[in-house]
Amino acid sequence: MNWSKKITDKVTWVGKVDWELKSFHGEELSTHRGSTYNSYLIRDEKVALIDTVWLPFDKEFVKKLKEEIDLQEIDYIIINHGEVDHSGALPELMREIPDTPIYCTNNGVKSLKGHYHQDWNFVPVKTGDTLDLGESKLVFVEAPMLHWPDSMFTYMTGENILFSNDAFGQHYATEALYNDLVDQCELFAEAIKYYANILTPFSALVKKKIDEVLALNLPVDLICTSHGVIWRENPTQIIEQYLKWADNYQENQITIVYDSMWEGTKQMAEAIADGIRQADPELIVKLSNIGKDDKNNTITEIFKSKAVLFGSSTVNNRYLSSMGSMMEMVKGMKFKNKKAAAFGSYGWSGEAVKLITQELKDAGFEVVDEGIRALWQPDAEAVAACIAYGKEFVSKL
Ligand code: FEO
Repeated sequence: MNWSKKITDKVTWVGKVDWELKSFHGEELSTHRGSTYNSYLIRDEKVALIDTVWLPFDKEFVKKLKEEIDLQEIDYIIINHGEVDHSGALPELMREIPDTPIYCTNNGVKSLKGHYHQDWNFVPVKTGDTLDLGESKLVFVEAPMLHWPDSMFTYMTGENILFSNDAFGQHYATEALYNDLVDQCELFAEAIKYYANILTPFSALVKKKIDEVLALNLPVDLICTSHGVIWRENPTQIIEQYLKWADNYQENQITIVYDSMWEGTKQMAEAIADGIRQADPELIVKLSNIGKDDKNNTITEIFKSKAVLFGSSTVNNRYLSSMGSMMEMVKGMKFKNKKAAAFGSYGWSGEAVKLITQELKDAGFEVVDEGIRALWQPDAEAVAACIAYGKEFVSKL
């Protein structure tokens, strides 16, 4: 089987499919379905390479690239984003072709120098700058904070390809390459998880940048991302999806996020869920024990929700550490337009609910009330109070 995959007469995929990747950004992001690092080789009158692959695959990448093309024939390297999953093979490649110009944003120069401490032949570009390849031309569009300050898109005229780097990507290993050839449920589950966990804090910029790119009226036949599939069937569907996700996205869902020492708080979570369902059977209610669940899946469920309830037992006058970790993540996400409240069981002091309530306010949630507590294991009366609380919570949405 050939390593490289021809996409058009001029463009070839020369990346890496990483089926074994199970976490990303250290352990911050789970990647249960692996990922890909997509690099593209453009052969026009001039030859350009767009992005590389992650560092562990640098030697493999350069070795295979040599089998594909004489490296001396590469006229330009385009680095859309300096994070090491895309630039990791640059040092290995630049040892072979040290004078080749590297086109990237001004911030790209900073991040590449910051990572590799090399004084390569950088050519800083800004929005609207172009690079002639012969029949086709590359047009650069800066996309700061999608998702790093250095990020940019590269558009190829003639072939009508948007090389979008991280935007519109998914951590989704596939040999199939194209969006129409993979399981659609898996694809969109990974696409929304990627958006929820990586792009949510920058949603306002996502909408602004997409509007700016759409205003250019450029025909787009392919969106070549740097992770996961290439969007070729109805490629703009993912752009439309991003516009929805960036616009205070909500489904008709409430998520109950909790952890529990001796299951008192868990019983409360289930009783509150019961009350919500009684009040509105149409509402999707999901429970996530953050002591056990994948935290990035929980973030995705929060992203999809119109309201969230957070519950924890009280321990050492605080909430459980799993809730502390979740609160740190939630604050970083800067969720907008979501209602919330806290709950939890306790034995004597019972500070958790008050502390979580304050954290929710600090995280930007619209806290609807002061929450509900139950002493020790909830008795029948406390369970009934939680059911009633669930019903009342729905009435406040
Ligand atoms: Fe896929 Fe921001 O790196």
